[in-house]
Amino acid sequence: MPTPPETIYGSAYMPTDVPGPQARALVERDAQVLAPVGRVYPLVVERALGCEVWDVDGQRYLDMNAGIAVLAAGHCHPRLVEVATAQLNRFTHMAGTDFYNEPMVRAAEKLVSLMPGGQDWQVFFTNSGTEAVEACVKLARYVTGRQNIIGFYRAFHGRSYGSLALTASKPRQREGFFPMLPGSFHALYPNCGHCPINLHHPECGLACLDFIEQTLFTCTTPPSEVAAIIIEPIQGEGGYVVPPLGTLAKLRELCDRHGILLICDEVQSGVGRTGKLWAFEHEGIVPDIVASAKGLGGGLPLGAMLARRALASQWKPGAHGNTYGGNGLTCAVTYELLCMVEEELMANAARVGAHLLAQLSALQQRFPVIGAVRGRGLMLGVELIDPASGAPASELANRLMVEAFRKGLLILTCGTSTIRFCPPLILTQAQADEAVERFALALEALC
Ligand SMILES: Cc1ncc(COP(=O)(O)O)c(C=O)c1O
Repeated sequence: MPTPPETIYGSAYMPTDVPGPQARALVERDAQVLAPVGRVYPLVVERALGCEVWDVDGQRYLDMNAGIAVLAAGHCHPRLVEVATAQLNRFTHMAGTDFYNEPMVRAAEKLVSLMPGGQDWQVFFTNSGTEAVEACVKLARYVTGRQNIIGFYRAFHGRSYGSLALTASKPRQREGFFPMLPGSFHALYPNCGHCPINLHHPECGLACLDFIEQTLFTCTTPPSEVAAIIIEPIQGEGGYVVPPLGTLAKLRELCDRHGILLICDEVQSGVGRTGKLWAFEHEGIVPDIVASAKGLGGGLPLGAMLARRALASQWKPGAHGNTYGGNGLTCAVTYELLCMVEEELMANAARVGAHLLAQLSALQQRFPVIGAVRGRGLMLGVELIDPASGAPASELANRLMVEAFRKGLLILTCGTSTIRFCPPLILTQAQADEAVERFALALEALC
């Protein structure tokens, strides 16, 4: 396990400007050999532990990104390092869709035991979130014999062709890649901060969702040809948007009425991040199929499609498969991680998340550019606005992200003008306070 240098929270902010010389050199080497993908700031990590990261020039950062909502147990957690090391010495890969291995079965058993309805679920392991979504879509088409899938505007489901067709977050993610998968439709995501139909909740009765029956089903696709509706219980890349309670219940009822399957994309919101294992549990509904990834692998690449047994068991041998899904190493780590989530991480996300939400909300009085603070558990968004007009302050959000980096705080934007906080679920209250302090320093520097 790496030994971190001695550091005391709040002792010293960036001693020198970033990026330092080593970081700059690596950024140049990277540009020569790696296809451009659009990095957001020049963080070049050397080592990391818990919620802290050190770059190649020795600068210390507090990590509110967790590798984009991935590292549920933080960097290099000793329990996961121990399990991974032991498994590396046994075997790593055995092609889970061709052969059997115990860590894969153990991880699946644990996942199933944590699902509502207990034994009524089956798992297909993937390597990423996008591949989990592909599996969900393929299963929905396969078992219903229907072709069409309805997603939501501003959703993000991934970048392979099936999931990209359902992603409707930013045009640049689709530009140059048309045509998309046929049979993909989009509906209006309930977002009371920016209501898509200018009404007020709760008087509206979630009228935005009526678009599905009143417009899609009457103008573009008969419901009898819709295999599934896919929704993020909290929109992630779309801006950490929490829809009002009742959203998933209304969709569940609509799906049941038309024989449509409900898919929850929990790739970003799942595995304890919102204070419950799955974000859909806040609504008390149960979907038919769930996509998971990110937090699930504890830092190793693992995703999963979970489906009710009655659906998943319909796949005939060879109907779907992959090479790396169910890899022994990733599954051993995932089992241990799920134990930790159940034992402590989920509760910590709820507790420290409530504290962080309160502290970030308190900044609103000092900084009128903060238009809203929202989220659940440790999936929190701070939306920035122009205080005079109320318009989204996208440029400020980008500048603030970079300024925070200079102040030793790793954060990321999402949506139009929102800063997301998705730290490791082991975050302590003291670390949350330090993050808010550094965030306020960055805000002060710009506002
Ligand atoms: C909700 C959601 N679904 C799917 C994906 C795609 O996951 P991956 O990048 O692992 O393919 C993401 C990634 O951000 C996501 O947030």
